[in-house]
Amino acid sequence: MKTNDVVIVTGGSGLIGRAIVKCLSERSNTVINFDLRESSDLNCEFVLCDITSQKSVKDGIDAVLAKHHRIDGLVNNAYPRTKDWGTAFDELTAESWQQNVDMQLNSVFFITQQVLFQMKKQNRGSVVNIASIYGVVGNDQTIYEGTKISTPAPYSAIKGGLINFTRYLAGLYGQYNVRINCVSPGGIIDSQDPKFVAAYEHKVPMKRMGTPEDIASPVAFLLSEGALYITGQILIVDGGWTAI
Ligand SMILES: NC(=O)c1ccc[n+]([C@@H]2O[C@H](COP(=O)([O-])OP(=O)(O)OC[C@H]3O[C@@H](n4cnc5c(N)ncnc54)[C@H](O)[C@@H]3O)[C@@H](O)[C@H]2O)c1
Repeated sequence: MKTNDVVIVTGGSGLIGRAIVKCLSERSNTVINFDLRESSDLNCEFVLCDITSQKSVKDGIDAVLAKHHRIDGLVNNAYPRTKDWGTAFDELTAESWQQNVDMQLNSVFFITQQVLFQMKKQNRGSVVNIASIYGVVGNDQTIYEGTKISTPAPYSAIKGGLINFTRYLAGLYGQYNVRINCVSPGGIIDSQDPKFVAAYEHKVPMKRMGTPEDIASPVAFLLSEGALYITGQILIVDGGWTAI
């Protein structure tokens, strides 16, 4: 990406978001973190934004445009979820399923649509959606054995939906020189139950879980001038998990 590009990162105060913000800032982009909470140690601008609220998203984008007059990049990374996120499939309620699809998938539609209005006008822009390996393959349930960890059922629908929404947008916006891609991370290390970590590391070809930094640089690449002819792609960053 050219220096001083204006890039919005949603959920930039979180585990992966922080690494993305840092990586993009180091590459001289103007990074704006859209999050519910600020992380004061990050070298970026902050906009208090709830991505599940259309008003909050519109206000946030208006504020960015009033200050910078353009948006060159958007990283859809935020991870809103309900308090009962992680409920086992047998006990999952339809209401919880619906709320999470609303918070995690439907919210991406609105912010992306609003940003694409601007990118289309500019005839330039790049969007990266953060999906997951679990939008690409099913879960290996054996890695959770003996732990309280699970990957919730709605996640498969949310991330699978996000992946194909990415392809749809790429088909529509290529003509406006706007690129839309996905990065699909594998499991990221974050003080999980050691039993789970051991089972995960045993299975994954690279024998370790990912780090937030492993995800940040592929995101920066897809936003950059080095990726000018790449659109509609799902870059799976998983240490080989989905290769076997
Ligand atoms: N951690 C993993 O192992 C992993 C693996 C694959 C994919 N992912 C994906 O990576 C992305 C980031 O995950 P993470 O692990 O860093 O999550 P996280 O919970 O550490 O961070 C998420 C961030 O989103 C913010 N957020 C939550 N609700 C919001 C809202 N309504 N509006 C704005 N911001 C909001 C939070 O404040 C937080 O800063 C998610 O899309 C997740 O699905 C994570």
